[in-house]
Amino acid sequence: MPRNIIDVTDLTVEEIDGLIATAEDILQNPAKYQDACAHKQLATLFFEPSTRTRLSFESAMLALGGSVLGFSEAASSSTAKGETVGDTVHTVSCYADIIAMRHPKEGAPFAAAQFSEVPIINAGDGGHNHPTQTLTDLLTIHREKGRLSGFTIGFCGDLKFGRTVHSLVNALSRYKDIRFVLVSPAELKLPRYVKEEALKKRGIPYRQTDSLDAVMSDLDILYMTRVQKERFFNEEDYLRLKDSYILTPEKLEDAKPDLSILHPLPRVNEIAVAVDKDPRAAYWKQVKNGKFIRMALILKLLDIRV
Ligand code: NCD
Repeated sequence: MPRNIIDVTDLTVEEIDGLIATAEDILQNPAKYQDACAHKQLATLFFEPSTRTRLSFESAMLALGGSVLGFSEAASSSTAKGETVGDTVHTVSCYADIIAMRHPKEGAPFAAAQFSEVPIINAGDGGHNHPTQTLTDLLTIHREKGRLSGFTIGFCGDLKFGRTVHSLVNALSRYKDIRFVLVSPAELKLPRYVKEEALKKRGIPYRQTDSLDAVMSDLDILYMTRVQKERFFNEEDYLRLKDSYILTPEKLEDAKPDLSILHPLPRVNEIAVAVDKDPRAAYWKQVKNGKFIRMALILKLLDIRV
């Protein structure tokens, strides 16, 4: 059975710490890794739109000396002819050494993995999980704060459908002394199953509020998110909720001087462009980090040591 990464807990905390160490080494010594995946192929199967995740996977494999194949929309694959995800993945696993797959249906990468002869990485499944964004977020927090414990993190926006939030809450709940503040409108609260499995089961206290202003000064990290338009059942609800939180320089007046602001991107309206100039804005660094942690993950899953 190949090693798959469907959920962030498919990796132990020690393995994640190891990936962060490898990513740091790649950042310092990129030349050492430039041929590590020579003659290896990564397939990116994206049944849903993506900019950063797909291109950072592709850029990661190219920087390792490997090559890439794949598709960026379901319409250009045999899915359009009615092929099942299982058959598509079975086919691609005959050509590629490793597969990154994004799909609008929750659980699709897990189901597809049953048909693959090579490792499958979940690159986002519906409103469920997004483990490699979480690895990106963890590397970013580690680089910004120098640690993965002992801080207060606020998640703000669409905590219901935001798969990056679900995976990051789950991942961080395994580290020590982290205080969670969940900021959302009542209709977009963190799903009960995430609270039960990640927070309650581990006895981790958390706070829920609908006011970002009320908690801003407590936060060491602020994780902003986009309201996930594509997961709503009707447009009216989306239009009512989409601008619930808009981070501006004024809103940051009460924030700590060493706050780190993260966002998985894309942003729509929830962070004003003026915030980009604030030294606390870490989201463009986060974009860069995504490539290096994915390089580390590809090396690990292909069992290549440099
Ligand atoms: C996120 C995703 O696809 O879940 N984007 C990403 O991968 N960086 C966040 C989002 O789409 O809002």
